Amino acid sequence: MSSSSRSHRLAIFGAGYIGLVAGACFAELGHHVTVRDIQPERIRQLCAGDVPIYEPGLGDMLARNKERLTYTLDADEAVATAEVAYICVDTPPTASGDADLSRVWSVIDSLTHAAHLKAVVVKSTVPVGTGARIRQALDAAGLAHVAYASNPEFTAEGRAIEDFMHPDRIVIGAEDDATVRLVHALHHGICAPLEAMDVASAEMVKMAANALLATKISFTNEIAALCEATGADILRVTRAIGQDHRLGPHFMNAGLGYGGSCFPKDSRALRAIASNTGHPFQLLTAVIEVNELQPRRAVQRLKTELGHLHNQTIAILGMTFKPGTDDMREAPATIIASRLLAEGANVTCWDPMARPHTNQPPWNQTHRRPTIGDALTGADAAIIATEWPDLIHTDWAAHRRLMNGASPVLYDGRNHLDSAVITAAGYTYLATGRSTERPASDRTAQTITL
Ligand code: UGA
Repeated sequence: MSSSSRSHRLAIFGAGYIGLVAGACFAELGHHVTVRDIQPERIRQLCAGDVPIYEPGLGDMLARNKERLTYTLDADEAVATAEVAYICVDTPPTASGDADLSRVWSVIDSLTHAAHLKAVVVKSTVPVGTGARIRQALDAAGLAHVAYASNPEFTAEGRAIEDFMHPDRIVIGAEDDATVRLVHALHHGICAPLEAMDVASAEMVKMAANALLATKISFTNEIAALCEATGADILRVTRAIGQDHRLGPHFMNAGLGYGGSCFPKDSRALRAIASNTGHPFQLLTAVIEVNELQPRRAVQRLKTELGHLHNQTIAILGMTFKPGTDDMREAPATIIASRLLAEGANVTCWDPMARPHTNQPPWNQTHRRPTIGDALTGADAAIIATEWPDLIHTDWAAHRRLMNGASPVLYDGRNHLDSAVITAAGYTYLATGRSTERPASDRTAQTITL
């Protein structure tokens, strides 16, 4: 734990996945943190000791550091004694694909009386050039003496605490060395290399890193499509490619496309920045298009296998954009459900944690079931859209008997299961980037027919 001389007072704006994790981790590092959000229910829950979002370890960390954490709806109260204000609000996409910075600006507006602040730091993902505009706004508000810094986060949902406390690097973009030192000091206790740079470069690091990760995923998904067409196996291909130290094994899991609150939004925002400057980012445009096609290709493959989807009952197993979170933003399962419904299918679904927006299509037209078995009961086929561990520990042979047909289709969109186990359990096994595998009984029947 940091000594009191190293302890600072921070105001965190935004109690979402980024702000709440940052607040908890800064408190764990010994700082006194006031978290401010505009949603009364969220603040009420936090004050009552409840955690409004699911993030492993977050509840324990907030409880462990409750002496150093306060929550408020009031921006003035949040900054009253703060040295540094951290902006962690969301920046959703607008119709043009640009980032909507209205929440960032409303925080900046609320800081105009906070002349005692040493620094304003942005952790939200913002377009390159935002820091320069914030600098101008602070100057115009008489806060020229308040430093400005960009300190992008690289935390992934589901492992955000681990990523925050053990990052690959700490990126700080600032106007001078003193500001870098101030922001770096807040991370005392974290062992990671410091990458200090100008503000615009720090903003670009964040956007470019997410775009490169998205590129790796879309590239892998394109290779997976070629594997399906040629009889190669994406798992063998990526395993061998990943052993090349220049390429590495990460972010090469073929699947149904990337989702979540970051990659889709950030890749579109970077493309918009490029387009707005007259330099179309063709590679990124292709990455985005591949991603948008991926869940549609899966539904088409299912349709080809089944002959048609009309009046077929399809179970979607997993609804969140990845396991370990309740977040459904831009989840590929949403596109899959919409497409299946558009094809006239009946859709059941299962997920241990998902929190869909109620009464919103397509989830208001699907039948959510409490267990995997309930979702599969009466289904003609199933598609795994999220690689939840529960699916590994499922008795697939017993579950097959709940479904229609002798060898129902199990489409493993995330390459999560062992194909030998699934075909031995009597399913027709489809997976991303791999050839269709049929149960031995089907293969025997085919041989006899031939
Ligand atoms: C991502 C980045 O990983 C973080 O470094 C970054 O800080 C964060 O965005 C952000 O900008 O805030 P996150 O969106 O939480 O984090 O989730 P990831 O684990 O990166 O997964 C994103 C999506 O890509 C998921 O839908 C996942 O299923 C998919 N994915 C990931 C693949 O399809 N294949 C892979 O190999 C890896």
